[in-house]
Amino acid sequence: MKVLHVCSELYPLLKTGGLADVIGALPFAQKMIGMDVRILLPAYPAIFRGIPETHVVAEFDNFAGHVVLQYGEYNGLGVYLIDAPHLYAREGNPYHDADYNDYGDNYKRFALLGWIGAELATGLDSWWRAEIVHGHDWHAGLAAAYLVNKGKPAKSVFTIHNLAYQGQFARRHLDEIGLPESMFDMNGLELFGQISYLKAGLYYSDAVTAVSPTYAQEITTEEFAYGLQGLLGSLREQGKLVGILNGVDEQIWHPSCDGYLQYHYKQKNIAGKKKNKAELQAYFNLPPKEEALLFVMVTRLTEQKGIDLLIESADEIVAQGGQLALLGSGAPHWEAAVRALAEAYPANIAVKIGYDEALSHLMVAGGDVILVPSRFEPCGLTQLYGLQYGTLPLVRKTGGLADTVVNSTADSIKERTATGFVFQQANATDLRQAIRQAFSLWQKPKIWSMVRANAMSQDFSWRNAAQHYQALYRRL
Ligand code: ADP
Ligand code: GLC
Repeated sequence: MKVLHVCSELYPLLKTGGLADVIGALPFAQKMIGMDVRILLPAYPAIFRGIPETHVVAEFDNFAGHVVLQYGEYNGLGVYLIDAPHLYAREGNPYHDADYNDYGDNYKRFALLGWIGAELATGLDSWWRAEIVHGHDWHAGLAAAYLVNKGKPAKSVFTIHNLAYQGQFARRHLDEIGLPESMFDMNGLELFGQISYLKAGLYYSDAVTAVSPTYAQEITTEEFAYGLQGLLGSLREQGKLVGILNGVDEQIWHPSCDGYLQYHYKQKNIAGKKKNKAELQAYFNLPPKEEALLFVMVTRLTEQKGIDLLIESADEIVAQGGQLALLGSGAPHWEAAVRALAEAYPANIAVKIGYDEALSHLMVAGGDVILVPSRFEPCGLTQLYGLQYGTLPLVRKTGGLADTVVNSTADSIKERTATGFVFQQANATDLRQAIRQAFSLWQKPKIWSMVRANAMSQDFSWRNAAQHYQALYRRL
């Protein structure tokens, strides 16, 4: 079975969030179980730098101008790169400029991505023809529409990593991107009077997946669906919308071999974890106290992540003598707000603004508790990394967080299923209560170690997910 992943990020070459981690792992796990998988990406400068040896597969002009399709290999996996410098030769974030303004030609940049995804199912590369075109997030949503428009030469799968990002564009662009007016319909890619690349992916694909079972359910409700609950609810009823949980790439994220860490450790011998904690406290200029409960958070600073809830309840951490280290980047007002928090409590709270892969590993390894108080969370990867590293996740009960973390209660502790702390409502009171719960468990070191051992023995390998996707492809 020949599968083409159509997407816009690839760890470690280009990453804005968990999508890159997924594309850096899932196709490779699929290859391991014997599938013939390739990836299609825009040739952003960082992608080209990481895949310097390529050859030309095709060269043509279309609605997006002059385009060269290149092919190369990355870690043994085939990658098509769309070489169109007028669209993609921009450093930094792939979606917006340094001031957070979306690029004005995004409609064209991501239409081309979808268009080529569909063409690779009809012989654009005469040596390899996709039988399944698997698009990820709105960036790849149009692939399914172009496939339908071409008479369905291949099956299509669309994975929702985050419904909050939709790719909405003005109707007038429709004929510029080579799609018929007839598709601009409620039963089509129209949403609130605009073209929605996300909806195109949902509507025209043969199957839709979300990155966790709970999120697949949540997005059929008004609260999570941004107006798409009708469509998503009916896909769910027809069995066309399912949840497949993400995994953890254990070559990148495992405390026994993490390439970014100086001190390795494992469940049976966690001495190295204490050294990472000391190193982390030193890095952040926090007092080197082993007994202080150290909370960490690694995140994009957006509404989604509940950063405001943390800002409101962080004084609880301070009052109980704990510490908080936060690494994040995002909208300027959030960056300013977390900086102000660190200034208010310099002895307990430290913040680094920016994107720092190496530091993110030290934080996951050195922390005692990793915070993920999200309002919604399609899957969430940092809580999975926390489990793997024995850094207990403190999460809100939503999406993938609800599917992967078991709250520490008297019962779950007794049954040895407890792995972290889970709170219900997205408000500061509930978060504060969960923080207190963590402090109270911290007072019982034996139980803490037991919960940590439970966490570290969870299995979130990508092999599982790869098999689930394979079964889905086979069904199609
Ligand atoms: P999302 O994709 O919504 O941002 P995930 O939890 O799925 O959330 O994935 C986030 C990924 O990005 C994780 O690998 C996390 O470690 C990483 N990350 C987020 N913010 C930063 C940052 N400021 N520096 C380094 N890594 C970050
Ligand atoms: C999105 C979601 C996150 C998920 C990631 C990878 O960015 O916000 O929850 O883990 O995609 O699927």
